[in-house]
Amino acid sequence: MKIVVLLGPPGAGKGTVAEVLAERGYIHLSTGQLIREEMQRGSRIGKEAEQLLKVGGFSPDKDVLELVSTAIKKSKGDYFTLDGFPRTLVQANALEGFIAANDANLVRVVVLECDEEEIVRRLSGRRSCSVCGNVYHLEYNPPVNSGRCDADGAELIQRRDDVEDVIKQRMVIYGQRTKPLVEFYERKGLVTRVNANQPINAVRGAVLELAARDWI
Ligand code: AP5
Repeated sequence: MKIVVLLGPPGAGKGTVAEVLAERGYIHLSTGQLIREEMQRGSRIGKEAEQLLKVGGFSPDKDVLELVSTAIKKSKGDYFTLDGFPRTLVQANALEGFIAANDANLVRVVVLECDEEEIVRRLSGRRSCSVCGNVYHLEYNPPVNSGRCDADGAELIQRRDDVEDVIKQRMVIYGQRTKPLVEFYERKGLVTRVNANQPINAVRGAVLELAARDWI
């Protein structure tokens, strides 16, 4: 099993990059999306997440680990892009345990670096499909038909955590709890930084070039 981890602040473009790796056979596993599905289902994990999301907080590690492990087992694939996971040191250590137990290989940790001003612009203009979760941007990546998903024609919606106050709080929590993972993986020699301030196609191109050179 090969695993690629995408690290970076909210809105840096992790989901957007994961889409292009999916075209190369890497299953996109987004913990944010898994949690939103739990919220839609109204499960215990989803109900708890709903409260935390309003203040930009994280779901408990235990819940997230359960969701990731179930999703990996269900997918039966061998190649994964992890988007939004790990997000804490506890999760990173759990991933180490999973890798050792399953003879898996963490091939690269791609760190998407993006300025705060640009992040606010991206998140406030983001719209997502209410059915399939495909992601658009009002200006940078608009759908063909305004307000409708290109893939299934369903309504595009704005995420509840994509409002300025919550975005700022998510940035703070990212700095406190997730950014230290960059150093954790740097010590293992796994980190490649990508300038995510560039336009979508340039970032996607940079990651594809890296993938072709490095792990695909
Ligand atoms: P999650 O959904 O993972 O949110 P996030 O990490 O904050 O990241 P985003 O999805 O907001 O952004 P992204 O980097 O994927 O950017 P995107 O490609 O969409 O998690 C949501 C919540 O769930 C968390 O806050 C937490 O509560 C919980 N959670 C999730 N995982 C957890 C975990 N492991 N542990 C605990 N809790 C967890 O792009 C953003 C926008 O910009 C889009 O509109 C896109 O079209 C546009 N865009 C992308 N790239 C570019 C570019 N290069 N140029 C211009 N526009 C661009």
